[in-house]
Amino acid sequence: MSIKFSRKDLGLVITPNKTAEYLIHKLGSIKQNQSILDPCVGPGIFVKLLIKKGINKKQIHAFDISSEYEDDLKGLGVHFERKDTLLSITESEHNQYDFIIGNPPYLNKSSSYVRENKKELRKIYGKINSHETYAMFIVNSIWRLKEGGKLAFITSDSFLTLRTHQRLRKFILRHCVINEILLAPQDLFSNQNVSTSPVIIVLTKLSRKDQREKRLTNQIRVITRVKNEEEYKKPNKILTHLQKSYQILPFNIFYTDIEPQVITFFETAPKIVNYMKGYIGMHTHNNRKYIAAIEGTELAKIFHNRNSKIREPENQYRIISRDYLKEKAWRPYLKRGGAEQYYRPIMEALDWRENAKKVYDIPENVPFEREGLVISGVSSRLAARYMPKGCYWDSNKAIGCIVLDENISISYLLGLLNSSLYNYLAKGIINNTNSIQLSGIHALPFIMPDSETKSLVEKYVERIIEQLKNDGLYNYENEQRIIDNLIFNLHQTEFDFAESLKEKLEKKYSIYQKK
Ligand SMILES: C[S@@+](CC[C@H](N)C(=O)[O-])C[C@H]1O[C@@H](n2cnc3c(N)ncnc32)[C@H](O)[C@@H]1O
Repeated sequence: MSIKFSRKDLGLVITPNKTAEYLIHKLGSIKQNQSILDPCVGPGIFVKLLIKKGINKKQIHAFDISSEYEDDLKGLGVHFERKDTLLSITESEHNQYDFIIGNPPYLNKSSSYVRENKKELRKIYGKINSHETYAMFIVNSIWRLKEGGKLAFITSDSFLTLRTHQRLRKFILRHCVINEILLAPQDLFSNQNVSTSPVIIVLTKLSRKDQREKRLTNQIRVITRVKNEEEYKKPNKILTHLQKSYQILPFNIFYTDIEPQVITFFETAPKIVNYMKGYIGMHTHNNRKYIAAIEGTELAKIFHNRNSKIREPENQYRIISRDYLKEKAWRPYLKRGGAEQYYRPIMEALDWRENAKKVYDIPENVPFEREGLVISGVSSRLAARYMPKGCYWDSNKAIGCIVLDENISISYLLGLLNSSLYNYLAKGIINNTNSIQLSGIHALPFIMPDSETKSLVEKYVERIIEQLKNDGLYNYENEQRIIDNLIFNLHQTEFDFAESLKEKLEKKYSIYQKK
């Protein structure tokens, strides 16, 4: 058979020697009657090291889809099978190996391999809803492991936190105790032109229902990002997380650098959705046609410039007078993300005349036009702004939110959500990409403030908004420091947050980030 895919198409990346040795070391002692599999062996770095360590060749099994390594590996005397590990699995291949080790290929859904095998892969791995091969390799290998068997992989770290991998994380939590998560050097594969940040994960399969308690009470050894391979054995920082905490965190995030007190906060406080609810907005189906810039705004200036280069009147960008908003033929419209907080003048208007309205998809039960907050759906930080009465919003980058509890004010929520603590919860823990989803916002924990904290936060938020209304570039760092302290102290009293968390917030999550 000819080779259908190139090495690159098959995700060939070679594991550096010291990393391979560390993974082998993590498996612990291998007895003479035990079997070990590399399910994506490539040129055989793990196999060769195992042989060097004195493991009997007969104990070693290896698979690869490519025929390139067949002769070499068979020459080494190990059991080599040329096969597609992901597609070839049958029930009889479950529970076969005592150890599995490897560096699974990282191929995403746009790769030729995944596209060509989409249907079959979905049949087998559909339940974990993962499109990357490395995620399917984790599941496949857990199936192949015997009860009590151990797995050590070096792979992309994106499954630890990305929302799309929640089902994979749940699968792992249901079937294994996690022995170790070590964030490997960022540049481990950069000399092979691979930029994914890698993680070493070590698991033991304990999938029986009656072992649930064992899984939950397991202590995971967690090592935050090391700088080089030498640090594997003497890292600067070793944390231990109770496996149960991964069960508790929203979306079962496998967070590495989280404080136990923050986990308790997530575990015990009610969700913010009980106090404030966000809604996905509407579709115009043609924003260019139905959304206009409001005269006098920055956007209107941009549209003026663009229009000076467009001849045909029907192709020009629309700019409307502010008076049109009063006549209600146009409505203020929110469709922008971005990191701006507290207040931003509304620059866009939605055509609200009958002919236009007919075209829109407007979801039912969304309280458009009510006063509230708008949160950026795409932003480098959690950013909430005041939303005046009368607004509509888009389904994408702006999330309109309404306050549900009369004891809580819009101003207090603006202060809370724009604080460094909540930026950490939302962007440091729940979703460290540039997007913020509604479900992520709703999963934030919330405690009722005492009346003094509440009124002080409100006072400073209102001051910031007033200033920003006069001067869009107003620097509110001083007020923000006060708000950050108020919010931190409120939660510190309740959850015993350490001072080190405060430093972390100032350094990494505040608008005045200390170096
Ligand atoms: C990242 S490389 C690992 C190479 C080697 N184990 C190492 O760590 O140096 C991934 C290997 O997986 C193989 N591979 C890709 N898709 C596969 C599949 N579906 N079944 C089996 N092997 C596959 C590739 O041919 C490649 O050799």
